[in-house]
Amino acid sequence: MRILPTTQAINKLVQIEFEVRKAEKEFIKPSSQRRYSIDHWSFRTRAPRKARHAITSAFLLLSHIQEAREAGGLELSPDWRCADLGSGLGMSTFSLALRFGFIKVIGYELDKKVISRAERTRQRHGIGNVRFEYKDFLEEDLSPYKLLYIYQPFFENFVEYMNLPMLETAPGTIIISRIASFFREQIFVEPFFRLIYASPKNQPSNPFLAEFYTYQRTAYG
Ligand SMILES: C[S@@+](CC[C@H](N)C(=O)[O-])C[C@H]1O[C@@H](n2cnc3c(N)ncnc32)[C@H](O)[C@@H]1O
Repeated sequence: MRILPTTQAINKLVQIEFEVRKAEKEFIKPSSQRRYSIDHWSFRTRAPRKARHAITSAFLLLSHIQEAREAGGLELSPDWRCADLGSGLGMSTFSLALRFGFIKVIGYELDKKVISRAERTRQRHGIGNVRFEYKDFLEEDLSPYKLLYIYQPFFENFVEYMNLPMLETAPGTIIISRIASFFREQIFVEPFFRLIYASPKNQPSNPFLAEFYTYQRTAYG
């Protein structure tokens, strides 16, 4: 795939985000349109867990990564395999893949309709370094991935389900998380993980950026 310069990648992401936001309306049940509440479910997964659907704006994810890079804690390399755990309509998968055209990104998603829509978007925009897999990421071996992105895929028994898969990632794995703090603080604990970068709090123009934390799995354990 041709690697787009940053401005072209961002321009394409703006178009994709517009389309994805339009598509989202097809998948949200009327009862779930109350935003920011714990019952903001849009669809269920196969598992006994309820999925929570929401979209990571390209602007937010890429701003966090840019800040982390400037802080010196993160540099992506061409040989990195990356996974978006619960990729939904693919927005964060596309953001990573277009901005860093040299990496390969896999999006795992349990909802068939949603993943089909993401795949349609991928094909329409000819994004070659993305693959979507209709799979439960909790049943996958995540150790080959160097970078994981997780935007609160579900809530029920989150720590119980996520603890082991996170501990079983390979030492050095970078995990960008947008996870409710009461779960995050129980999963990414020292000495198993070290915090690489947290976007600053209290940014009135950009309050959601403070939800992003980047960790690294240490060699401990
Ligand atoms: C909050 S959305 C995030 C979408 C995307 N990562 C983004 O940031 O735009 C979470 C997604 O995770 C999916 N999901 C939940 N549990 C999953 C699992 N165990 N395996 C794969 N996908 C899962 C849900 O169906 C939902 O689409």
